[in-house]
Amino acid sequence: MSRAPRVIVGISGASGAAIGLRVLERLAKTGQVETHLVISPAAERTLATEINPAAPARARRLASHCYDPTDIGATIASGSFRTAGMIIAPCSIRSLSAIAYGQLDNLLARAADVQLKERRRLVLLVRESPLHLGHLRAMAQVTEYGAIVAPPVPAFYMKPATIPELVDLIALRAIGLLDLDLGGEALPIREWQGGEA
Ligand SMILES: Cc1cc2nc3c(=O)[nH]c(=O)nc-3n(C[C@H](O)[C@H](O)[C@H](O)COP(=O)(O)O)c2cc1C
Repeated sequence: MSRAPRVIVGISGASGAAIGLRVLERLAKTGQVETHLVISPAAERTLATEINPAAPARARRLASHCYDPTDIGATIASGSFRTAGMIIAPCSIRSLSAIAYGQLDNLLARAADVQLKERRRLVLLVRESPLHLGHLRAMAQVTEYGAIVAPPVPAFYMKPATIPELVDLIALRAIGLLDLDLGGEALPIREWQGGEA
């Protein structure tokens, strides 16, 4: 029997912590994905500030496995631990830069680098605005290494009516970029059906 796909979810300290939480909720709801979670110290703070103080604990409950970001000897730090890829949602400029320039002194950046060296999917929901040239260069760098930079920018044409709906759309779209083969309606990723000319 083939095992459940493993997905690493990183939550770093950029604004948009709710997107990381929603990614975990959506993956948990499929009942078909094994999730491996790393929350950076800065994200502990953004989860608490932007959602509520219980949000970091909720994120951990949703994940199949959780890791301390300082544990650079964890399973997910090795390429021998096979995964379907990793999503960092949201991805801070600090974490983006760590991945772009090989500063792999925490588990979040190390696990991301492992996805790239193993030629697996790495989806980075980089959130900052406006962007200076250094930010753009770091995005170009990780793109050259094979990462997918997918800023959490709303698809307004989907007409999300509420912020939770908008967060859900972004989370589902990010998961879609992993190309998981789950079948059925496990992930209700909405497709554009065309519109009036
Ligand atoms: C409320 C709040 C919002 C933040 N928003 C962003 C952001 O949108 N983008 C970003 O790159 N950093 C943002 N930061 C700063 C990062 O948290 C900071 O650079 C941190 O060192 C990132 O570390 P990490 O990548 O290990 O999570 C924010 C910080 C706070 C407290």
